[in-house]
Amino acid sequence: MPLGKFITLEGMEGAGKSTNLAYLCSMLDAQGLVYTVTREPGGTPLAEEIRRLLLAPREEKMVPLCELLLVFAARAQHIEAVILPALKRGEWVISDRFTDATFAYQGAGRELGTARVNELEQFVQGELRPDLTLFLDVPLDIGMQRVAKRGELDRFEREQSEFFQRVRAAYLARIEADPERFIHIDASRELSIVQSEIAKAAGELMKNTKQA
Ligand code: TMP
Repeated sequence: MPLGKFITLEGMEGAGKSTNLAYLCSMLDAQGLVYTVTREPGGTPLAEEIRRLLLAPREEKMVPLCELLLVFAARAQHIEAVILPALKRGEWVISDRFTDATFAYQGAGRELGTARVNELEQFVQGELRPDLTLFLDVPLDIGMQRVAKRGELDRFEREQSEFFQRVRAAYLARIEADPERFIHIDASRELSIVQSEIAKAAGELMKNTKQA
C-alpha cells in the first residue's frame, strides 16, 4: 500500500481556512480518495486539551518556550495517533495547520528563532513533512476585522499587529525557501478565484500520485 499524501493548510488569521478546507475535502471526495481531516494544535482528545491550554486567555503569562513545547507535545501525540497511521493506511491527510505555523508563530511571532524550531521539528517528526502546503494570505487589517466579528478572541488573536507582521514575514520566508512545496494564495480575492487555485494545486498532486 503506497503512503497517502499529506497536505497542510496554513494562513493568516481570518484568511478563510475553514471554508477552503471544506472545498479541498469536496475535491478529494469527487475523486473518491479516502482521507483524514485534522487540525493543529489538536487532532486527538489529548492534543485538543493541549490546544485549549494554548488558546485560552489567562492571567499568568505563558512563556514562549512553554508555548513552543506544548505545541510540539500536542504534535507528537497527533503524529503518532492520527497522521502516521492514516498515511500508512494509504489515506490522504489534510491538516488545518502544522509545523509551518510553529516557525511563524513561535519562531517569529514569539521571537524564539528558527534554530530551536528546526531542532524540535527533527526530534518530533523525523522525516515527516507535508507534500503540499497551501498558504492563504490576507492583509492583516482585513484578517483582523474578520476575526473580530467572530466574537471572543483567543490568546493568539489578542496579539498586536507587530506580532502578526512577524508571523506573515516568516511564512513568506518559508515559501521563498521551499517554493516546490508551497502554494501562496492571495485569499483577499473572490472565493471562486481562490478555490480555482486550490483546485489546480491539489489536482496536480493527485495527477502526480496516480502517475507515480
Ligand atoms: P487556528 O486559527 O487555525 O484555529 O489555529 C489556532 C492558533 O494556534 C492560531 O492562532 C495559530 C496558533 N498556532 C501556533 O501558534 N503554533 C502552531 O504550531 C500551530 C499549529 C498553531
